[in-house]
Amino acid sequence: MPKLKIVTFGCQANELDSQRIAGVMAREGYTLTEDAAEADLIILNGCSIREKAEQKLYSRLGTFQRLKAANPGLKLGVTGCLGQREGEGLLRRFPYLDVVAGTGDIPAIPRLLARRESTGACPSPGAPLDLFPDDIELVRESAVTAWVSVMDGCDNFCAFCIVPHTRGRERNRPPEAIVGEVAGLRARGYTEVTLLGQTVNSYGKTLTPPTTFAALLRRVDAVAAPAVRVRFTTSFPGDVTPELAEAVASLPSVCEHVHLPVQSGSTRTLARMARGYSREDYLGRIALLRRTVPDLALSTDLIVGFPGETDADFAETLSLLETVRFDSLFAFKYSPRPQTPAAAWPDQVPAPVQAERLARVHALQAVIALERNRAWIGREVEVRVDSQEVKRATPLAAGRTRQNKVVHFPVADPMVEGARVWVRVTEASPYHVKGEMFRAA
Ligand code: 5AD
Ligand code: SF4
Repeated sequence: MPKLKIVTFGCQANELDSQRIAGVMAREGYTLTEDAAEADLIILNGCSIREKAEQKLYSRLGTFQRLKAANPGLKLGVTGCLGQREGEGLLRRFPYLDVVAGTGDIPAIPRLLARRESTGACPSPGAPLDLFPDDIELVRESAVTAWVSVMDGCDNFCAFCIVPHTRGRERNRPPEAIVGEVAGLRARGYTEVTLLGQTVNSYGKTLTPPTTFAALLRRVDAVAAPAVRVRFTTSFPGDVTPELAEAVASLPSVCEHVHLPVQSGSTRTLARMARGYSREDYLGRIALLRRTVPDLALSTDLIVGFPGETDADFAETLSLLETVRFDSLFAFKYSPRPQTPAAAWPDQVPAPVQAERLARVHALQAVIALERNRAWIGREVEVRVDSQEVKRATPLAAGRTRQNKVVHFPVADPMVEGARVWVRVTEASPYHVKGEMFRAA
């Protein structure tokens, strides 16, 4: 049987696409392998969100090219947002590639490979998919936690972001398909699902009849609770509504964590980013979520050194972090992306200034995250086990609370991944807490 290795770069949407690629290739008889040396086909499923993500892929590709030189039967492909964006350009740069496919070409990969073999041609990617390829059986990585696609693509066109160009316009998956998938996962013993979309809470407006993400959560909860925890990502601030806050607060399966990318704390910068909200609007949505959902954890993404960001703008971002006090965040140096308006602006921020701002964000957030985590000391939390390791002969399990906090705790016997237990929190650090298990859930 031919063997396939997939290397995934980037976000959860790409991870899910890798599971789709594995599903499409399974129909052709391919089984997965981790070991490049025994692979017949290696696919690099690439990300374009920042230049660094692309560089990472190119350096891996170099390694695999050497492998191919020694083993000419090996086939190599590039897919994902990078395949979509670069298309034929990749073939000109790397003529040894056997397949280049975009985000919309996943079902066509076997056909593209066959065409390359018979004619030597390797066509450029088509348009991003219009629909969800619901007929593809995913090859999931885990037997207990699953990504479930809710919507894909994005219509927001933020001035820095390549996603609308690589993943296309927003498409919503029918609610019946989503609910059916979650019910099936539950029946197969999954204990966690994460509903995925670039702006997941914008879901439903363009369906007939229109619906809302909160309504979807209610339907998902009806088939998920109490066995399955439901998470969702990524939310868009402009679509945080009282109905959504109420759903997170009241539905037993839905976890008390919202990832809400702010990108900047400065209203002036937000306007230039075309985010569609001001600092005050964002803070208003946070206040709504916090007053409705007890014990809510909040996380965010932000960009430092966006073109034209002044010291005063950046100070607004730091002050927003102090005001909101996120549990965690991802901060990025702005990276100019082709096809996006901000890439062409003259007032790019020098790299050393970006680096200094990024370091200041991380230093402030470490203090805040430690304070947030310390507030959990002494509390009893329900933890779902992700993994365990044996450290100095004591097995140490790691899991997450409903708030998505990582908890480490010693266990007498090995734990099953996906199991739920109760833990008393005893110690905190900025990026995780420690505790003692006192009973099974
Ligand atoms: N440069 C830096 N960060 C970016 N992001 C998106 N586009 C860019 C870019 N051009 C960040 C945003 C987004 C996250 C997924 O990646 O913060 O929320
Ligand atoms: Fe990109 Fe903005 Fe859409 Fe998020 S909302 S995917 S940042 S365009």
